[in-house]
Amino acid sequence: MLEIRTASLAQHAAMLALVDAEIRTDVTATCAWDDFPLVLASENRDWQFVAIEGKEVVGCLACLIRPFTTSCGIISVAGIGSVVTTARWRGRGISSRLQRFALERIAASEVPLAVLWTDRPEYYAGCGFGAAGVEYHVDYEDCDLNDLLVTGGQIRPYQDQDTAQVAALYARHPLRTVRAPGDAESLYGMPGTRGLVFVEGQQLRGYLFAGKGADFPDYVTEFGGDSEAVVVLLAEARRRQIATKVLVPQGATALQRLLVARGARWSARPSGYWSVVAADVLRATVSTAASTVARWPDSNDAAAWLGSVDRTGTPHAGALQLAVWGFDSV
Ligand SMILES: CC(C)(COP(=O)(O)OP(=O)(O)OC[C@H]1O[C@@H](n2cnc3c(N)ncnc32)[C@H](O)[C@@H]1OP(=O)(O)O)[C@@H](O)C(=O)NCCC(=O)NCCS
Repeated sequence: MLEIRTASLAQHAAMLALVDAEIRTDVTATCAWDDFPLVLASENRDWQFVAIEGKEVVGCLACLIRPFTTSCGIISVAGIGSVVTTARWRGRGISSRLQRFALERIAASEVPLAVLWTDRPEYYAGCGFGAAGVEYHVDYEDCDLNDLLVTGGQIRPYQDQDTAQVAALYARHPLRTVRAPGDAESLYGMPGTRGLVFVEGQQLRGYLFAGKGADFPDYVTEFGGDSEAVVVLLAEARRRQIATKVLVPQGATALQRLLVARGARWSARPSGYWSVVAADVLRATVSTAASTVARWPDSNDAAAWLGSVDRTGTPHAGALQLAVWGFDSV
């Protein structure tokens, strides 16, 4: 009989094999655990759920819980990923059961929001996930950046010893994940990710990372530092043919404006498929932070809380601004 449970150490190994076989089918690309080092880590087993039939792991789902700085204080979010059912067991409700199991655990932990990323939203709509939030995809391939000069500094590839300074620049973003100790090292050190830094003396003025393992090819997935330095780094990333697009989350749109003024094209997209798991917890948290109750949605509608992008591509602000940067998607 099918059982849904938290992964044991042995089931964790089987889960990694299942996820890798299903979502990293290209053998030359990175492995699933390279691209999702935090959510798939053995230390995160409390948040890795498996469907067991006999002794076989036939389905799985993993969550990564982290606090986020938002426009209304610190709010915990569960990122959900590695959703896989082995091929011969598909279409029998296993993934729906895993989703419901995870959502119960998330609600029980008083984590008010859950998010996942998918190109097949119909698999998740039944459990309440809908497109919400806003982020900007800026295509700077044809942007005029030729006049930009690196003065008084040097651009070079990211090195491990840059991590503390890079993390400090990331922490200056008003909307971001509050990463746990060790997260930055794991994320910036992902195989396949390419980082560039702008250094003046010993001081980092800016950084960017392109790609995330096999994910986000051609995209800058995270940047930080002063906008001028970031734009110079973007020009260099384009010259090195590692990126021509940049994902700009809410709270970091100064860069978007700067690039658009130089001819970049952009589109607004939902930041993910969201579910308001515990509206009461969310309302209590934002009310404490903002000391006003009146403008918060009464509903569990994620788009009312986080904003949305309509069919014409127009973004609509929500009550709450929250950004998930590329590295923090799971
Ligand atoms: C996506 C995947 C996990 C779904 O697993 P599953 O166990 O077959 O899913 P379920 O049978 O529980 O169905 C989940 C929901 O999707 C719907 N669904 C299932 N197959 C579907 C299909 N072919 N087309 C449309 N909807 C479908 C179900 O009706 C159900 O909706 P409900 O919750 O409203 O009842 C599985 O297809 C898979 O492993 N795919 C390969 C890996 C992958 O792409 N993972 C997703 C990464 S984002």
